Amino acid sequence: MDFDLTQTDHLLSTTRAVRKRLDLERPVPRELILDCVRISTQAPAGGNHQKWRWVIVDDPDKKLVIAEAYRRSYAPYIAAQKKAVAQAGTAAASDSIIDSSTYLAEILHDVPALAIPCALGRPADAGDKGGSQQGWWGSVIPAVWSYCIAARSRGLGTAWTTLHLPGEAEVGEALGIPDTVTQLACIPTAYYTGDDFKLARRKPAEQVTYWNSWKNTDIA
Ligand SMILES: Cc1cc2nc3c(=O)[nH]c(=O)nc-3n(C[C@H](O)[C@H](O)[C@H](O)COP(=O)(O)O)c2cc1C
Repeated sequence: MDFDLTQTDHLLSTTRAVRKRLDLERPVPRELILDCVRISTQAPAGGNHQKWRWVIVDDPDKKLVIAEAYRRSYAPYIAAQKKAVAQAGTAAASDSIIDSSTYLAEILHDVPALAIPCALGRPADAGDKGGSQQGWWGSVIPAVWSYCIAARSRGLGTAWTTLHLPGEAEVGEALGIPDTVTQLACIPTAYYTGDDFKLARRKPAEQVTYWNSWKNTDIA
């Protein structure tokens, strides 16, 4: 089968963190979210263990618990970001991220659905050098990104966020998630407004790709 590379490359390279363009008024059918989770379950996992679970939160009171936990971490986080931007001189890109992130923090509880991807168990000891950390995270993160891409291709915007996680226990209690389960992120999910998304400015592939030796960027 031939893929339409224009389409697939566009999808992969324009799945942005959507914040200001989340449509807060238009409900998202649960079946559509389930479709995105269905696609995500095709992601790879070490040993094919499939330890991912999804808690989709569309109950207003429960969304508020998540948003409040998020906002508590957001205040010190954004203060540190602003200081960094001020020290480095005004950087337009950072200013706009701060602006849209602040907006998201303010309206998080109004987003139609907050998806909390979870993983059964807890990651290996951070000091472990045998690859078990990498294996653990690598077995769940690809599925979360597949969810975001599947959402984008269905007209839904998402933003990968982690700032509610200092309040993981409190959110876990509200959602009945046991503390033996790791919450990975909070993915606000809504229809997006406007037509399309642009490519982001990123470091060129040629600069971040090394051939046979660390830092050898010479492709010839
Ligand atoms: C692990 C991870 C954590 C993130 N946490 C947050 C967050 O808590 N809040 C937020 O607004 N954006 C968060 N982001 C989104 C990034 O800010 C965003 O991906 C980055 O600025 C690049 O923008 P783009 O995805 O639109 O290209 C997170 C992204 C990742 C991958």
